[in-house]
Amino acid sequence: MTEILVAYATKMGGTKEIAEAIAARIRAASHEVTVLDAADVGSVADYKAVVLGSALYAGRWRPEAVKLLKRNADLLARRPVWLFHSGPLGTDLSAQKAPRKVQELATRIGADQPFTFGGRLTGQTAVGFLAKKMANGPMAGDYRDWDAIDLWAYKIAQHLVAAR
Ligand SMILES: Cc1cc2nc3c(=O)[nH]c(=O)nc-3n(C[C@H](O)[C@H](O)[C@H](O)COP(=O)(O)O)c2cc1C
Repeated sequence: MTEILVAYATKMGGTKEIAEAIAARIRAASHEVTVLDAADVGSVADYKAVVLGSALYAGRWRPEAVKLLKRNADLLARRPVWLFHSGPLGTDLSAQKAPRKVQELATRIGADQPFTFGGRLTGQTAVGFLAKKMANGPMAGDYRDWDAIDLWAYKIAQHLVAAR
């Protein structure tokens, strides 16, 4: 069994970079880590723990992340799972709750509710008409807090070391 899966769902690449940073921190604690687009994950059966994150759009998770959660709910319920999402454009992360369906799935698999990280919306990376328009507005910027991401991943790595 390979060790840890870090899966992400992204449209403009920002959440993938968060997933890669989380994977690097967990790997530094000597775990074998696989990073995959959620759309490319069939089953989580081969992994002993799972980290899953999605970008937020219009208050929702990306469908490929929700599908992964739903399809693998029984397997996930028997493994440690950590969830996160990335979205808020600004420093106030408190308002962004997970969509109800994701909250319910998190409860069903026994995971904590998703941790919120700031998002990124910039002219260079925006994909699609609306995103490009928003990237010219006052919300644009990169609000991903790499120290907070590293700390969150560090706690996961510590948990996994203790569980060995
Ligand atoms: C059309 C659009 C809708 C968005 N809706 C939300 C939202 O409901 N909540 C939120 O926190 N962020 C929202 N965002 C911000 C994105 O989640 C943020 O840019 C995120 O970092 C994108 O992740 P990605 O690069 O992995 O696709 C929205 C962005 C766009 C362009």
